[in-house]
Amino acid sequence: MNIILLGPPGAGKGTQAKRLETGRGMIQLSTGDMLRAAVAAGTELGKQAQKVMDAGNLVSDDLMIGLISERLDQDDTKGGFILDGFPRTTAQAQALDEMLEQKGLVLDYVIELRVDDAALVRRIVGRYTCARCGQGYHDEFQKPKVEGVCDACGSTEFKRRADDNAETVTSRLEAYHRQTAPIIPYYEKEGKLKTVDGMAEIDEVTREIEAILG
Ligand code: AP5
Repeated sequence: MNIILLGPPGAGKGTQAKRLETGRGMIQLSTGDMLRAAVAAGTELGKQAQKVMDAGNLVSDDLMIGLISERLDQDDTKGGFILDGFPRTTAQAQALDEMLEQKGLVLDYVIELRVDDAALVRRIVGRYTCARCGQGYHDEFQKPKVEGVCDACGSTEFKRRADDNAETVTSRLEAYHRQTAPIIPYYEKEGKLKTVDGMAEIDEVTREIEAILG
């Protein structure tokens, strides 16, 4: 099964994608993670992306479409993929449809996580991840079982994203409403859109998504 998780920054796309990976053997394709890896590796893409990401704006469509097209050709996507953070513009949505057709792939569902803007800032500012394995946590909503120790790998090192601050979040939310939300009707017309209440607790959101996927 191949799906898109769609929603504003902090909606829970990454959190739910990780759970689907564990539960269903699907693979998470997060364009944000790919860009952060490129920034960390100091590649040409990373250099171009860093300033744009730090300002909370969107990286160019051409770069993102090329990146995801190459990624979809890798073998680990064959058991099903979860697109997290792509597409983010109408041009990316159209390009995705074309590339899926060319590659003989089918998109099953587009799951929109709907969350009030006011809740998003709190979620993003409190977010952190394990520096070793990437497991996600939150200061209030998702603490490790033992304080300061990662549940998944036992590491005691954690990190926060450079763009997870109140100022950048405002730009990211603006970019979402201006450039990404307009693709929702596109998928509604295709009959693929399902909407989930992303304000519910994390486990409840997972249950709602599982009910859609069947
Ligand atoms: P990206 O990395 O995709 O960031 P984003 O879309 O802003 O989304 P986030 O990762 O911030 O949020 P999420 O929905 O995954 O939330 P999470 O599960 O972590 O993109 C970063 C940047 O890269 C962009 O700004 C752009 O510059 C660039 N970029 C990426 N893709 C691009 C593209 N296609 N085109 C152009 N540019 C692109 O949850 C957040 C927190 O809330 C966590 O701490 C979690 O524990 C908690 N939480 C989750 N669910 C719940 C819940 N139900 N209740 C309470 N807490 C919850």
